[in-house]
Amino acid sequence: MAKHDLDPNYLDPNYEPVVNHTENTPFHQVLAARMQRRTVMKGSVGAALASVMGLGLAGCGSDSDDSTTSSNVSSTDIGFKAVPTSTANEVVVPEGYSSETFLPWGTPITGSYPEYKPDGTNTGAEQEQQVGMHHDGVHFFPIDQKAGGNSSTEGLLVMNHEYIAQGALHANGATYVNDMRPADEVRKEIAAHGVSVVHIKRDTNGKWDIVFGSPFNRRITGNTEMDVRGPVRGYSKLITKYSPDATETRGTLNNCAMGPTPWGTYLAAEENWHGYFANSDESQPREQTRHGVGSSSRYDWELADSAEDQYVRFNVSTIGATAADDYRNEANTYGYMVEIDPFTPESKPQKRTALGRFGHEGVIFAPVKEGEPVVCYSGDDSRFEYIYKFVSSKPYYAATAGGYLLDEGTLYVARFNDDGSGDWLSLDLDDAEFKAKVDAAVGTTVGDVAFDGFENQADVLLNTRLAADIAGATPMDRPEWGAVDPNSGQVYFTLTNNSRRTEEQVNAANPNANNRTGHIIRWSEQGNDHTATSFDWDIFVFAGEQGTETVVDDEVIVSLTDDNIFNSPDGLWFDYNGRLWIQTDGSDAAPYQNNMMLAANPETREIKRFFVGPVGCEVTGVVSTPDVKTMFVNIQHPDGNWPDSNDPRPRDATVIVTKDDGGIIGA
Ligand code: FEO
Ligand code: CA
Ligand code: CA
Repeated sequence: MAKHDLDPNYLDPNYEPVVNHTENTPFHQVLAARMQRRTVMKGSVGAALASVMGLGLAGCGSDSDDSTTSSNVSSTDIGFKAVPTSTANEVVVPEGYSSETFLPWGTPITGSYPEYKPDGTNTGAEQEQQVGMHHDGVHFFPIDQKAGGNSSTEGLLVMNHEYIAQGALHANGATYVNDMRPADEVRKEIAAHGVSVVHIKRDTNGKWDIVFGSPFNRRITGNTEMDVRGPVRGYSKLITKYSPDATETRGTLNNCAMGPTPWGTYLAAEENWHGYFANSDESQPREQTRHGVGSSSRYDWELADSAEDQYVRFNVSTIGATAADDYRNEANTYGYMVEIDPFTPESKPQKRTALGRFGHEGVIFAPVKEGEPVVCYSGDDSRFEYIYKFVSSKPYYAATAGGYLLDEGTLYVARFNDDGSGDWLSLDLDDAEFKAKVDAAVGTTVGDVAFDGFENQADVLLNTRLAADIAGATPMDRPEWGAVDPNSGQVYFTLTNNSRRTEEQVNAANPNANNRTGHIIRWSEQGNDHTATSFDWDIFVFAGEQGTETVVDDEVIVSLTDDNIFNSPDGLWFDYNGRLWIQTDGSDAAPYQNNMMLAANPETREIKRFFVGPVGCEVTGVVSTPDVKTMFVNIQHPDGNWPDSNDPRPRDATVIVTKDDGGIIGA
């Protein structure tokens, strides 16, 4: 009955349709001759691994300037004893550490604080007042941050709820009556998505709890009213029945990772939003095809047995006489970074379109400097998609900084050259080089798109992937989280995996065909200036099984062992001391077993497994208090009855990790 039966992969949480059909591998033909590529075979499995090229890195280590060197930076040595891989249905942390679960799906946080019902009978209205499902990116805002404080005992924990498991959410899973879905089931599913803002406080015994009744506690869902900001605001291709002037929309969906802004707000990413819309028109616009919008949606929300347009809007077919009479453009209001001000509960979330429209995994800001532009990076997590950088037009001043800085600026896309250099390619029609490429592409076929030009810069941003194809960006192995080293200023990104890459499609930055285990890339901006248009890159580590080597200048820098084998790096975060935390969302078969989190020293590339999650989960989302003595780690889509063996339903949850002696985590 369910339309998504047409595509059995649709309910696979890791399903990423390949929608980049361009041949944007401008360097691969010359690569084989120029790249110093060594293949290492491991045992009978025969995992083919390429070494990295020998690359000098500019701007790393000691020459970082004051703005990127925090005064409280300490050693980044990894001090704990690595934990082994695990198949247990529980969280594993090192000796001397403890963990406890916190804020599982369904925890009441606002309104009338409706109690979680383990039989799945909470209503849609109740879910709107409870923590959502499938926890992902998370950030801790010290409660006194706006006053310049640094509290590690009280703050706002803000987290994303990426998607849902209908089987766990409802008493009997998703139901259909005459091929339609009960509207309250759909309401509950929409409410289980979005973002939670939770005011939390640690008591004198060290126990964290929700501050009940706090005005900061808030749910933002797939139905919350939002503004469209930046160059795409008011563009005709966003006209809907709800917003005839193309300035507003409702909801944020599939919020994967996030990024805290330098001014104390939270940007939630919209990643696989394409799966929520259905278009039964004979042909679809490029704004949908380049993302994989199909004729059926993942959860069939457009089939709610209600005429209310909060449900009807997920049908993006052409139904009315004009765009103002239907929701043909609704999907064009998704695919952005969404700014939420957790300290202003009545604030309306803002979709920041200048940062581009694609499958945003998250965003990471470079350290800000007074009087200089704001810079942030965002990956597009789909096979063969790209990494982007935004540089604001207006300068940052701490006293007046705000979301307006994200509404004007230049969006760039990365080209990783085979010689270890890289270039940021402008996607601005005012840039002569980009304009020339666009003009030359008119009348040609770009991927699957018969390209007839861009109307204006709003059209470029609406079709960011297509613009990046034309610019000549490097197709990557699914860019997930990014992180900026507070000590060196280097930018790191996880490239989680790409089993579809063929030998003919490898490039220096993505050197493995059939890349099943992924790698982590990093770069230094020229002159350690984050606004620079060129950079030098290298590969920090290749993930894989025991014996997987990362080789630099013929020297084996990393050879993975029982203490640190991992696959499919996804979450990535530098803590406030400069340790790098790596989370996985990959195969949980041997030898890796359950997904995990590792800590790395960015200078020595020492890596140790710190944490293993329960059965079936991915470990995604990590942050600590400013003193790095309380760590919050999210567990998404556990199997079975974790965390409560008496509850038949799995519940996504945050895990609080502390060191038993009250010390710094990781040290
Ligand atoms: Fe939602 Fe790309 O992970
Ligand atoms: Ca992810
Ligand atoms: Ca992932």
